[in-house]
Amino acid sequence: MTNPSFSNTPFTHKSSANPSAFCAQTLVRRWVWKMAIATLLLMAVGSATRVMNAGLACPDWPLCYGQLIPTAQMNLQVFLEWFHRLDASLIGLMAIGLVGLCAWHRESLPTWLPWASLVALFLIVVQGILGGLTVIELLRFDIVTAHLGTALLFFCTLLAIGMALLPYKASGNAGKLPWLGMAAAIFVYGQSIIGGLVGSRWAAHQCFGVADLCNVMNTHIAGVVPPTLAVVALVISVWRRPALNSWLRNLANIAGLLVVLQIALGVATFKFRLQVEPLTVCHQAIGAALLGTLVCFTVLSLRDFFAYRTARQSILLSTAAPVA
Ligand code: HEM
Repeated sequence: MTNPSFSNTPFTHKSSANPSAFCAQTLVRRWVWKMAIATLLLMAVGSATRVMNAGLACPDWPLCYGQLIPTAQMNLQVFLEWFHRLDASLIGLMAIGLVGLCAWHRESLPTWLPWASLVALFLIVVQGILGGLTVIELLRFDIVTAHLGTALLFFCTLLAIGMALLPYKASGNAGKLPWLGMAAAIFVYGQSIIGGLVGSRWAAHQCFGVADLCNVMNTHIAGVVPPTLAVVALVISVWRRPALNSWLRNLANIAGLLVVLQIALGVATFKFRLQVEPLTVCHQAIGAALLGTLVCFTVLSLRDFFAYRTARQSILLSTAAPVA
């Protein structure tokens, strides 16, 4: 059951009373979701680019063979690298558009939103610079890994904005779930960075033969334990709270399924010795989807948490007033 007193939180929308604010928030929310989907696609294409050795298929940057569309040189590898840049440019333009939208409608939007849009713009600028450095520095492993880490942060920022703007009636009974969700998200992010190192150092290949980079691969295999335990704890905690909002219940269940799928994909990627490229691409995409699901869960459960705190404070104030 939803308690109507849980409506006034730091995430509270100006939209509940004002139709123009509702339109502005809906517009920004839809814009941000489109950006998030384009970013998930961009990361999958980025993974395909790396695993198909297409990272340097366009030898120059920002153009490809000095052209906007390198028709003469086009093959699968050039297409992957070129499309990756095209999608990235589109997302960059959308990030500028997001800042513009938030500035234009700032009177109708929550005060944190223009700042959050600037954070997103900052991250995509850093991402673009890292993308350029990836080519200039000939796929240096630390730059490739930082490129993945920033992409994931950008993706999480977009999802956090989208979930904070979602029309959502908090039930105020999430308890400590936000912290569990946040811990799981941090573990999955860390595991993804180690996965990025495995990929960019070609550690799995080394590990098939000599044991040179086996420690990186082994860290990734052992690193599966903390995120898996955190997600399992999250799912069990959610099941034990029957009155929880259905959004939170569904997100936790999806996270549970994704972690199982991700481990299966990881094992298959390793077992087939990276020979089946779609498996590696799916491993990257499902990893990002798992992280995104946990971020969505954390933001919504934080909204519950703040709703509960605000409601409790107002009850305390109203009972204290007559005494004073
Ligand atoms: C929560 C669990 C996991 C997450 C979030 C995760 C995430 C990732 C990510 C983000 C990458 C980088 C992909 C890329 O750059 O294209 C990666 C690479 C990799 N992961 Fe995982 N992973 C997980 C579990 C596993 C498991 C259990 C295995 C089993 C051995 C595994 C094996 C691999 C391998 C072999 C690579 C390198 C792929 C390549 O070189 O292209 N992962 N992982």
